[in-house]
Amino acid sequence: MLPRLFFVQTERQPPSRDLPGPFAGFKKDWRWIRMSVDSVPLLRMEDIHKWFGKVHAVAGVDLSIDEGEIVGLVGNNGAGKSTLIKALVGVQPKSRGTFYWKGEEVNINSIKDSRALGIEAVYQDQALVDSLGVIKNIYYGREPVKGFGPLKTVDFEKMKKEVRPLFQELGLDVASLDQEVRFCSGGERQGVAIVRAMLFRAKMVILDEPTTALSVPAIKRVLDFIEALKGEGISVVLISHNLEHVYQVADRIAVMSHGEKVLDENTDEHVKEDIEQVLHETAGAI
Ligand SMILES: Nc1ncnc2c1ncn2[C@@H]1O[C@H](COP(=O)(O)OP(=O)(O)O)[C@@H](O)[C@H]1O
Ligand SMILES: [Mg+2]
Repeated sequence: MLPRLFFVQTERQPPSRDLPGPFAGFKKDWRWIRMSVDSVPLLRMEDIHKWFGKVHAVAGVDLSIDEGEIVGLVGNNGAGKSTLIKALVGVQPKSRGTFYWKGEEVNINSIKDSRALGIEAVYQDQALVDSLGVIKNIYYGREPVKGFGPLKTVDFEKMKKEVRPLFQELGLDVASLDQEVRFCSGGERQGVAIVRAMLFRAKMVILDEPTTALSVPAIKRVLDFIEALKGEGISVVLISHNLEHVYQVADRIAVMSHGEKVLDENTDEHVKEDIEQVLHETAGAI
């Protein structure tokens, strides 16, 4: 679907002037603005709660993510970050609260629901099926087929043709397309999941601790992937305990503690100090 374009008059305009030529009649102080970027966030979470029995793991979180925005989600162990995103993805549905997608209330009760919206999650542990090949992992459950009826087979050639340019673009080894995922390095595994997100035109990619246990070059590669997603207009939520990685790529950083969001600011030097202080104060509290 093409983004809907609206003619919106902005505030604080320069004096009106008629535009020349074919645009005559339009005023210069009118601009084309994409509604979705300018006023309605791609995703808005409102008062999200999650209980595990008596454990109140997520305790009323409001969080918005704009189109093409990279939001870092940080907090000490047990703060509720993974639980919040699992609720968003539908793996462990929320107990209470509302998700709005492009301003409209949506029900997310399964991965199928979140995928239908264009949300792809990349988990540290469950992203990939080790025993399957790279290609099968990328397409898992969404393989293109050729032929009809009983002659229907999975179309490997088509898959490879689609995936190869993305691998090249991301600097991943094309030869690895045929190998099983268990033989991929940590950085490549993240790459496989990111290729999946790009291929299926995800609108939002969620990465939960993607840089943990990776070598320095692999970390750089993952951070580059994140920038590449942003370049495609895809929003990213990056959960990481490594603040330096978050600072490098995030436009905005939200901090969670005890299931609540305690800070939500654009990334800048001044905010770094606040974040570190909050993390220090809430460390070991659970
Ligand atoms: N499946 C579960 N069952 C019970 N408690 C859980 C479950 N998953 C997470 N929790 C608890 O919820 C809280 C938040 O955990 P989590 O979201 O994993 O934190 P984070 O990702 O920020 O480290 C913790 O107290 C954790 O023990
Ligand atoms: Mg976690």
